[in-house]
Amino acid sequence: MNRVAIALLMFFFIGSCLADEHMQMHMHHGDAGGDKRISLALAPEMKQHQLSNMREHVEAIRSIVGLIAGNDFAKASEIAHLKLGLTEETRKMCEMFGNEKFRKLGLAFHKSGDDLGDVLLKKNVTQSLEALSRTMGYCVECHATYRQ
Ligand code: HEC
Repeated sequence: MNRVAIALLMFFFIGSCLADEHMQMHMHHGDAGGDKRISLALAPEMKQHQLSNMREHVEAIRSIVGLIAGNDFAKASEIAHLKLGLTEETRKMCEMFGNEKFRKLGLAFHKSGDDLGDVLLKKNVTQSLEALSRTMGYCVECHATYRQ
């Protein structure tokens, strides 16, 4: 086979791969049922409320990681209890949801936030990161299961 033939073959081969990929991307975007997560069917104002709460969660995680690195376990513990733990406010928030399993998951998540707060007081980096990882496991699990 000469070089031109090989070049042509490669051209068609790569071209067909790109076409496949394009098709898949296209199907993904156009497919409204692509998101298989359970919808909580939230009212619009609840949606905004939930999202702003969620953004506070990421911020809390970031603060806690930074404070562990900076050796300020007391402050990290305070944030864990206040922002991720089960407070009167977070309990009320969770109880507003009609979906029983979602509510349970939310409450278990906040309980893990309190556990994290307790572990942080031991001032042990490894144990703290393990507890943080358990708490973040709930973020991952819930996001994989539910959407607004
Ligand atoms: C009990 C369920 C649950 C837990 C636990 C949970 N989330 Fe969420 N989160 C949600 C839902 C539902 C949404 C909306 C997702 C959607 O509709 O696509 C969301 C959305 C978000 C968003 C998007 C915010 C925006 O403005 O778009 C962020 C960021 C987020 N969560 C962070 C976190 C972090 C960090 C944690 C853990 C520390 C966490 N969440 C724990 C249910 C949860």
